[in-house]
Amino acid sequence: MITLGIETSCDETACALVQDGRLLSNIVSSSVPLHAKYGGVIPEIASRYHIEYINKVVREALKKAKKQIRNLDLIAVSKNPGLPGSLIAGVSFAKALSYSLEVPLVDVNHVHAHIFSNFLTAPKADMQFPFIGVVVSGGHTNIFVVRSFEELELVGRTRDDAIGEAFDKVAKILGIGYPGGPKIEKYAKRFNGKGAIKFPKAFLGHDSLDFSMSGIKTAVLYYARTKKLSAFEISRISWSFQEAVFEMLIENIVKAVKKFNIKTLLLGGGVLANKELRAKLARACKKMCCNLSYPPPELCVDNAAMVAGLGENIFKRGRLK
Ligand code: KG4
Ligand code: ZN
Repeated sequence: MITLGIETSCDETACALVQDGRLLSNIVSSSVPLHAKYGGVIPEIASRYHIEYINKVVREALKKAKKQIRNLDLIAVSKNPGLPGSLIAGVSFAKALSYSLEVPLVDVNHVHAHIFSNFLTAPKADMQFPFIGVVVSGGHTNIFVVRSFEELELVGRTRDDAIGEAFDKVAKILGIGYPGGPKIEKYAKRFNGKGAIKFPKAFLGHDSLDFSMSGIKTAVLYYARTKKLSAFEISRISWSFQEAVFEMLIENIVKAVKKFNIKTLLLGGGVLANKELRAKLARACKKMCCNLSYPPPELCVDNAAMVAGLGENIFKRGRLK
């Protein structure tokens, strides 16, 4: 079975081909450079970009996979959550294609797709339900108990900003550009941890698996206002912020593993591209004797491979019912 995935939930126009769980092509065209000067995504610019580029991206995905449009057996599209105008662009395109080619259409939850992106690369033997699924992206910070491709119970979430969003806002405060995650990671690498700033970590109760980023974000803002932002100071703030946020994240992941006694973790989302986070997670999982899976960086950030992969699994499962 050959599945075309379409992803237009935010600022990436992405299409990918997957054949029975195997990735054939994965094309992403990003409108990020057009948003950079505003320090965040401008929805109107993002949706216009999808409309302009989606045909081109589909053609490229087919070409790279050496397939023709008539070879498609299934279309999968991100239906929610996301920016409404951006989602409409992808869903309308997918519906028209499904109708004209007479192939079925499956809609996919974008956040769930981040978790199942792991199925495209991890060994099949490791992929036994249930899992703890964690999505750390620009729009979401969620912890799920994952019982099947369609049964995901949300057990922890952010009460305000997503972690990636907090990275983007802190980078804006520091004047180092958008998207903030890779910039903060780069600056943090230049600081050795000596003389770090103790930014406050939100505590929402012993039983809670929720997150809050507003306190630390405000603390960074107030601290930065009092300093001349030299390259050294930016590195120090970046390191200290990153450290505190990753500690909060990992504390809740550890709590979730203990609470549900599930020893396999599937992670996804743009923030997982951060090498320091990957290293910290690996250490925490080793300590708890947990299996840890996260996809390669190009499948952590928004992409359509994860959409095609999950769509194919949902479709096949539906046929078995
Ligand atoms: O998953 P994604 O591409 O889009 C959403 O669904 O939101 O995630 C984008 C987010 C941005 O907030 C970006 O700053 C963050 O992921 N990000 C990172 C890194 N690379 C991307 N955050 C921390 N470190 C990184 N290296
Ligand atoms: Zn995403």
